[in-house]
Amino acid sequence: MKAALEAIRETAHQQLQAARDLKELEDLRVKFLGKKGELTAILKQMGSLSPEERPVVGQLANQIRESLEQELAARTQALKAAQLEEKLRAEAIDVTMPGSAPAPGHRHPLSLVLDEIKEIFLGMGFDVVEGPEVETDYYNFEALNLPKDHPARDTQDTFYITDNILLRTQTSPMQIRTMEQRKPPLRIIAPGRVYRSDAVDATHSPVFHQIEGLVVDRGITMADLKGCLEAIVKRLYGEEAVVRFRPHHFPFTEPSAEVDIQCFGCHGEGCRLCKGEGWIEILGCGMVHPKVLSICGIDPEEYSGFAFGIGLERLVMGRYAIDDLRLFYENDLRFLSQF
Ligand code: DAH
Repeated sequence: MKAALEAIRETAHQQLQAARDLKELEDLRVKFLGKKGELTAILKQMGSLSPEERPVVGQLANQIRESLEQELAARTQALKAAQLEEKLRAEAIDVTMPGSAPAPGHRHPLSLVLDEIKEIFLGMGFDVVEGPEVETDYYNFEALNLPKDHPARDTQDTFYITDNILLRTQTSPMQIRTMEQRKPPLRIIAPGRVYRSDAVDATHSPVFHQIEGLVVDRGITMADLKGCLEAIVKRLYGEEAVVRFRPHHFPFTEPSAEVDIQCFGCHGEGCRLCKGEGWIEILGCGMVHPKVLSICGIDPEEYSGFAFGIGLERLVMGRYAIDDLRLFYENDLRFLSQF
């Protein structure tokens, strides 16, 4: 029996030293020291020994148990330390390696040009105001001299929410809101999103941006309108930019005009950018209709004014020779990172 015990001691020792991880050590503990382990199995046979032999063998068994437990503890510690060492080595950071710079975002071309326009108008003494995108029929149409049966309503494919509430089709309602709230002299621009139920293509989008302008004072004439808009266009496109005023009709201005800028792509020859026209339309404008002034409680005998509505996307497309409006909304970084 002693020999059996010594044999266990020897094998256990060899296997403990050979174990490569904590799992193997645990298996060895169960195998030799566990309730059904080899050592316990031997101790169970102690009954068959003579009374003289029993304490001697018992002592030896206990000694072996103790020394195996100690060895097991020491091996466990050693393996844990080795594991930690290995982990630290694997996670080591080389602080001298170059970092990867985060790509910072930047301004969208529409925001860039809008900011520039705001800056120009602020310098000319205009205020920047903003108003609701969900409008009433009154502000979007009625007060702008577009009564319910007016045919021009059909040209603005309106998103209606109820009979009387809609998504504004233009920023012109801000003319009415401003004149209701402030007394002349007035000089404001009102940039913002507008909505029309158009199918998406290279020149149409159901959401786009306009910048409304309004000036009301005593003695304002069409010459002020032309001078102001020409100055703006030259500030935006440079002194050599060429503009033309074309007679047009808007219900809320009289007389009315549209302003075209000569195409930068072809200098008036006609190209893909201007669809062969040589000119690109960028805004509508006119002298505020006396009826509109009256509706807002401003006496048209005493005051006059001009108004304009700039299409922001058109302007930016012209500025950077962009031929597809969809590029503004798709947020393709290859496009955006060029500005
Ligand atoms: N609201 C017009 C449109 O969306 C543009 C416009 C034309 C605005 C003439 C004006 C204006 O203020 O005077 O087509």
